[in-house]
Amino acid sequence: MTEALLDAREVSKTYHRRAGVFQRDAGTIRAVDQVTLSLTAGDTLGLVGESGCGKTTLAKILVGLVAPTAGAVFIRGQSAARASRSKRLSLKRAVQFVFQDPMNSLNPRMTVEETLSEPLAIHGLAHGDARRQRVRELLARVQLPLTHAGRLPRELSGGERQRVGMARALAVDPEVLICDEPIASLDVSVGAQILELLRGLCAQQRTALLFISHDLRAVASLCHRVAVMKEGRLIESGPTEALLTHPRHPYTELLIRAATLDLDTPTSK
Ligand SMILES: Nc1ncnc2c1ncn2[C@@H]1O[C@H](COP(=O)(O)OP(=O)(O)OP(=O)(O)O)[C@@H](O)[C@H]1O
Ligand SMILES: [Mg+2]
Repeated sequence: MTEALLDAREVSKTYHRRAGVFQRDAGTIRAVDQVTLSLTAGDTLGLVGESGCGKTTLAKILVGLVAPTAGAVFIRGQSAARASRSKRLSLKRAVQFVFQDPMNSLNPRMTVEETLSEPLAIHGLAHGDARRQRVRELLARVQLPLTHAGRLPRELSGGERQRVGMARALAVDPEVLICDEPIASLDVSVGAQILELLRGLCAQQRTALLFISHDLRAVASLCHRVAVMKEGRLIESGPTEALLTHPRHPYTELLIRAATLDLDTPTSK
């Protein structure tokens, strides 16, 4: 049996709603509801579902940025939450995250070069000239010009910031890469290049990928498996081809139909 690189067992996350003008009874919201999934080397899993269904919350649980209210996450069979500090650092290195919103995930006072050097320094991966060379390689991999190395996040476009976030995640050679809407803010050609980069990464380095996207077409072109999320739950998952041709859940059918309609609309890009 292949060992799972990343294994989430029945993870849930409940948020307490804040009371406001419109809502006196605040109540709770189950952002993620008993989700179980696992990724092994070379796996590519697409995660789709409507806005607010819990995709980002699930991704944050998987990388340890949000503690689950119930359930547990294991990296190579070990719980990062319970590991010693040094062990936790190495487990964290294995699973990297590309944020949906790069403006809020990049330090506004750090240049691109500093942003990409930081994970190398934290994990003691390259020093001096080797580190600078590594930063150059990373910029080339995400198709950013070397001249951008000295820029601050606010001096970059949204798409460029997204690619810096991607380069930062790739800096430590992760075994699992979680990308939250990585191409949503990119134009079609750069988006296609990023998809190509991810495809190469999975095929050549056997990096496992969790690809979160609204774009069912991108998911279908990249991922071997698809999981559909609705109201915090995984309602259906399976091999891409089978799921797209024989969806079992009406909601999956709806998503497929919406994507097809979008393709057929003359005004769609
Ligand atoms: N920190 C938080 N506090 C309270 N509620 C939250 C918090 N983060 C997310 N939520 C709520 O949890 C639910 C899931 O949010 P999440 O961001 O995971 O959705 P999503 O599937 O990523 O949506 P999108 O496609 O718009 O990015 C939403 O109802 C959201 O309002
Ligand atoms: Mg999200």
